[in-house]
Amino acid sequence: MLAQASPWHAHAAQRTATGLAEPLSVPARMEWTTRPGQGPGADVLGSDLRGKRLLELGCGPGHNAAHLVARQGAHVTGVDLVGLQVRRARSHYGRLDNLTFVAGHALRYLHASDEQFDAIYSVFGAIGLIVPELLLPAIAQHLTPGRVLAFSVPHPRRGGLSASGDDRPRRDHVTLPDRTRLPIARWEFDTARWEKHLSRAGFWITSAQEFRDPRMSHWPTTLLIRARKL
Ligand SMILES: C[S@@+](CC[C@H](N)C(=O)[O-])C[C@H]1O[C@@H](n2cnc3c(N)ncnc32)[C@H](O)[C@@H]1O
Repeated sequence: MLAQASPWHAHAAQRTATGLAEPLSVPARMEWTTRPGQGPGADVLGSDLRGKRLLELGCGPGHNAAHLVARQGAHVTGVDLVGLQVRRARSHYGRLDNLTFVAGHALRYLHASDEQFDAIYSVFGAIGLIVPELLLPAIAQHLTPGRVLAFSVPHPRRGGLSASGDDRPRRDHVTLPDRTRLPIARWEFDTARWEKHLSRAGFWITSAQEFRDPRMSHWPTTLLIRARKL
């Protein structure tokens, strides 16, 4: 069954079953962290995003993409591995102009397209879930010098864990709405290891910020990295 083929499909299927896929109002803020209202917003991607072409890798239900289009005037393409997520994103925000949702693997999308973007971003999305040695160079192909790549990932030290001591992925879990935990592979790098991989792919880091969510624990929960193409 497809639902067993990918934890992300099961995740989308349960979310779709529990929440109606109906038109939603556009969020007032872009969220990068686990705690809505915390940290920076769309300004991470640039101070004036009007008419800018943005790509989101692992867009899920499309809340951030919708914000960037409707409140910032950007043109956004959101890619997600799971067709159900894309269907849900279209039900929520398909009415908006300049917003396109595409179903597919982020790496395959990047390899198949020759479009250039003003910024590429991921919020707990595909970055960290795909081999960085393949994904970061593929992203670099779609950005000219000076353009921004920004992504947030679960902090490698969340819950008292420690960051990877090597370049290999570790086992993590997706927690479904019914609390089932399904295993996934995740690259759990600290900033220094991201910096090594980003610089090999032709990027330099302009900021790395960590965020806490006191409701969850005193450990950092989110790592947000912003880089520019060299
Ligand atoms: C934790 S969700 C985050 C969704 C969204 N960015 C948000 O903040 O609500 C991770 C998303 O990444 C997608 N994803 C996982 N692997 C992917 C891949 N290889 N290519 C594209 N999307 C992927 C999943 O289907 C899921 O929708």
